[in-house]
Amino acid sequence: MSVAVADLLALGLVLAIEKCGGPQIAFRGGRIDAEEPNIPGVPEPQQDLDSHIASFARQGFTKEEMIGLVACGHTFGGVQHDPFPDIVPELNDPHNVETVAHFDSTSTSFDNNIATEYINGTTLNPLVVGTNATTNSDQRIFSSDGNVTMLSFAKSSQHFASTCADLFARMIDTVPSGVQLTEVITLLPVKPELQPLTIDGDILQFAGLIRFWNLTENPDRVVQIIWDDHIGGVHNLTLLPSQERTPGNFMTWYDLGPTEDVEFLSLDATAGITNMQFTLDGKLEDQGSVGPPAAKFDVAVRRGVNVTRMYTEDEVKDATGHGFLVERYSFSPVEPGAATNTPYAFWTANLTQNATSYVTAEIDGAKISVGPIAAFIALPSCPKL
Ligand SMILES: *[C@@H]1O[C@H](CO)[C@@H](O)[C@H](O)[C@H]1NC(C)=O
Ligand SMILES: *[C@@H]1O[C@H](CO)[C@@H](O)[C@H](O)[C@H]1NC(C)=O
Ligand SMILES: *[C@@H]1O[C@H](CO)[C@@H](O)[C@H](O)[C@H]1NC(C)=O
Ligand SMILES: *[C@@H]1O[C@H](CO)[C@@H](O)[C@H](O)[C@H]1NC(C)=O
Ligand SMILES: *[C@@H]1O[C@H](CO)[C@@H](O)[C@H](O)[C@H]1NC(C)=O
Ligand SMILES: *[C@@H]1O[C@H](CO)[C@@H](O)[C@H](O)[C@H]1NC(C)=O
Ligand SMILES: *[C@@H]1O[C@H](CO)[C@@H](O)[C@H](O)[C@H]1NC(C)=O
Ligand SMILES: *[C@@H]1O[C@H](CO)[C@@H](O)[C@H](O)[C@H]1NC(C)=O
Repeated sequence: MSVAVADLLALGLVLAIEKCGGPQIAFRGGRIDAEEPNIPGVPEPQQDLDSHIASFARQGFTKEEMIGLVACGHTFGGVQHDPFPDIVPELNDPHNVETVAHFDSTSTSFDNNIATEYINGTTLNPLVVGTNATTNSDQRIFSSDGNVTMLSFAKSSQHFASTCADLFARMIDTVPSGVQLTEVITLLPVKPELQPLTIDGDILQFAGLIRFWNLTENPDRVVQIIWDDHIGGVHNLTLLPSQERTPGNFMTWYDLGPTEDVEFLSLDATAGITNMQFTLDGKLEDQGSVGPPAAKFDVAVRRGVNVTRMYTEDEVKDATGHGFLVERYSFSPVEPGAATNTPYAFWTANLTQNATSYVTAEIDGAKISVGPIAAFIALPSCPKL
């Protein structure tokens, strides 16, 4: 609710780079959407080196940082024929229908091949070895410090990754004066993403995923859930890595489904479930939840927006199949405490087992709904060409 589109775009960059094998990038919130276009800042290939240096300098980046930003950006993608017919000829390649000349040989992975191939002279980057020198802007940029920066990237993929993480964070944190960003937002180390319980005869179907952050995939890891039921039973299940969700470098998912084919946990409906905890290699990861599996749900509201009440609503169907919305959980404003000067105020609700569809707020007397809540459940994997 009232999260700036600019914050979502910045978050998109953070997640896309991680999904494609890149480093973790620090994320801060609090951007304010512009109401009119800014001076275009995307470098054009036919521009000369001095205009590139000036355009990066205007945004606070040195020449070396310009080399870094261009190399980090060009670890992905390439130049497409359609917008740049003079740089990329029509390729007539059935495997490359968009007619893209890629910047490096691994155009959908984050890696330092953009630098190694440039340094070892095998690059096919159309902005380095293009036939028309005027549009070889990567060549001019990469060699503008005598190749020192590109050599350092070629020598160390680790150095490349950490430089890119720093530069990308600074890029998305470049905001007009007067805009104050939040502290770096870190994720909960363990987060259940649970779907509503559904009932099928005597069986309660319990589906969802447990997301771990800052853990690389490790086949030897043992993730278990332990739950109590209403009749004094204690149960456990060892979870399998999710087939549905590809792990990133820092996020990994485990599925409540007991096998690859069965995506939910079947519970005896009479016994039910009262409490659930997770263990990671035997260590308890208690989310502090009591009662049914719960989740805390926070909504950030930009300061200055007059919210009088906030709640979730679910769509319910009556016997005739007519759908209507019912109010379910209400949110309480979180005491701002030390964070009083942040651009957002936070509202929190404790959700129990029912998934909710809409977050609704009353703002200056008007009812405004956002939904359905999709979280990042459908976050796609890195594209493969
Ligand atoms: C050039 O770099 C690429 C990417 O690292 C590597 O695969 C290739 O073997 C290198 N070629 C030479 C001639 O060093
Ligand atoms: C090279 O590119 C520049 C800029 O696009 C263009 O003006 C020039 O005509 C091109 N030269 C040749 C020989 O195609
Ligand atoms: C930089 O490296 C490229 C690729 O190896 C080479 O063609 C160019 O001459 C080098 N430039 C300088 C200034 O060393
Ligand atoms: C991620 O985990 C590593 C190793 O356990 C740790 O050193 C690092 O500080 C963690 N990163 C964050 C951002 O918590
Ligand atoms: C998990 O359940 C099995 C079978 O009921 C039991 O033998 C085992 O001790 C339980 N493990 C844990 C960690 O509670
Ligand atoms: C919020 O409410 C206050 C008091 O009713 C009013 O002065 C202010 O203009 C409102 N702010 C917005 C952004 O509508
Ligand atoms: C959510 O639950 C926690 C822990 O039980 C409690 O401290 C907090 O007040 C609850 N928040 C709301 C909005 O109900
Ligand atoms: C969950 O949803 C069902 C059906 O919509 C409802 O009957 C039940 O009261 C809800 N439970 C909670 C805890 O909100």
